[in-house]
Amino acid sequence: MKKKLWNQETFRKTPLVLLALLFFGFALWAQKDQPAEYKIPPEAAAKANPVKPTAESLAKGKKVYGVDCEVCHGKGGDGKGDMASDIKNVTDFTNPDALKNRTDGELFYIIRNGKGEMPPEGDRAKNDDIWNLVNYIRSLAKK
Ligand code: HEC
Repeated sequence: MKKKLWNQETFRKTPLVLLALLFFGFALWAQKDQPAEYKIPPEAAAKANPVKPTAESLAKGKKVYGVDCEVCHGKGGDGKGDMASDIKNVTDFTNPDALKNRTDGELFYIIRNGKGEMPPEGDRAKNDDIWNLVNYIRSLAKK
């Protein structure tokens, strides 16, 4: 017997097909809104740290850290600041692996521009303030 193209079965399945289309459309749309991968310009990553990690630099870095970073990254850099319960994946600077693969230039860029849920320092800090921060957070890694 020849099957009709538009039989009862087809009509029964039509809502399912529409639902599936809607679902895939939504999935595509959601993907489009996903943030792009975090990219640091190579010239920023290659930038050398002009500030030596002297006791003076570390002391200055610690001071700014206490004001701008400690709420999340915690006293001593353990990643358990007061706000860390609301924000996930705050980097733990005491873990020697945490910043191991980052150049000073990359850290500078991240601190200046922010990353994920971390707000940017932006114009609040002078370049040297940020280099001092880079030196300070590196000094927090457990040996
Ligand atoms: C509001 C909370 C918050 C504050 C304030 C904050 N951070 Fe962060 N920080 C984060 C979070 C969350 C991450 C992880 C971001 C990610 O990888 O998506 C992070 C990551 C980092 C990283 C590592 C990023 C990497 O990919 O290696 C550095 C370095 C850093 N922060 C430095 C600082 C410094 C320095 C300050 C102060 C000037 C600061 N942060 C202030 C939340 C914060």
